[in-house]
Amino acid sequence: MTPQLDVAQFHADYDRHPDDRIHLFAAVADFIEPATVLYPGSYVDIAPSVFFDDVHYIDLDRRAAKFFGQATDVRRLIEEKRRRAGRGGTDFEVRFDHGDYQAPLDIADGSVELLVSLYAGFISESCTRYLAPGGHLLVNDSHGDASMASLDGGYELAAAVTSRDGRYRVTTENLDGYLVPKRGEPPTVDGLHESGRGVAYTKSPTAYLFRRIEVG
Ligand SMILES: C[S@@+](CC[C@H](N)C(=O)[O-])C[C@H]1O[C@@H](n2cnc3c(N)ncnc32)[C@H](O)[C@@H]1O
Repeated sequence: MTPQLDVAQFHADYDRHPDDRIHLFAAVADFIEPATVLYPGSYVDIAPSVFFDDVHYIDLDRRAAKFFGQATDVRRLIEEKRRRAGRGGTDFEVRFDHGDYQAPLDIADGSVELLVSLYAGFISESCTRYLAPGGHLLVNDSHGDASMASLDGGYELAAAVTSRDGRYRVTTENLDGYLVPKRGEPPTVDGLHESGRGVAYTKSPTAYLFRRIEVG
């Protein structure tokens, strides 16, 4: 039998900037209230579950599978973090799939209200199909996925997430000033695949919120 993880300790070791993600998702939760969240490439970042009641995590990593496999301990950890964040309540759903987000997922197209893409590749390319029209993509540009989303005509920029001294703010002001390439050259899909990183923009917020455009 493989030994059990100390889930709280394992998460604390991952959470190098303690509670930083809690602050990020708190700011996002002040802006939108998605009923369903999909977080591919999550590893053990459970911060969305502190604020949202139905979060579906997906990761290839065996350690993530082991962590989420100890479901009771993970729920207990989330409950403790919810209490500390003043978001009590035990009526929430945490799902984890051990797999590749690039493969077809057992999720209905257009059924998710928030798709999260942080440091885990081009999630927007594989998973936008699951996002409901009017739903949001929270994405950073470390691996170029925000640049990729900016090239997708099915998205519009809804807000930027800025941070200063660990405090996050979701802003809808001056959105035209974001995603402006420093060198003037806009990114291309091929260039992003080749580099696997975002382009240099004149402003570099922590993350962006794109809205999936409603058709018709
Ligand atoms: C750098 S970590 C980021 C984890 C988390 N998003 C965060 O910001 O702390 C990248 C994670 O994405 C996962 N990943 C990368 N490609 C994946 C894929 N195609 N399918 C599922 N998970 C993937 C890796 O296993 C890893 O756990």
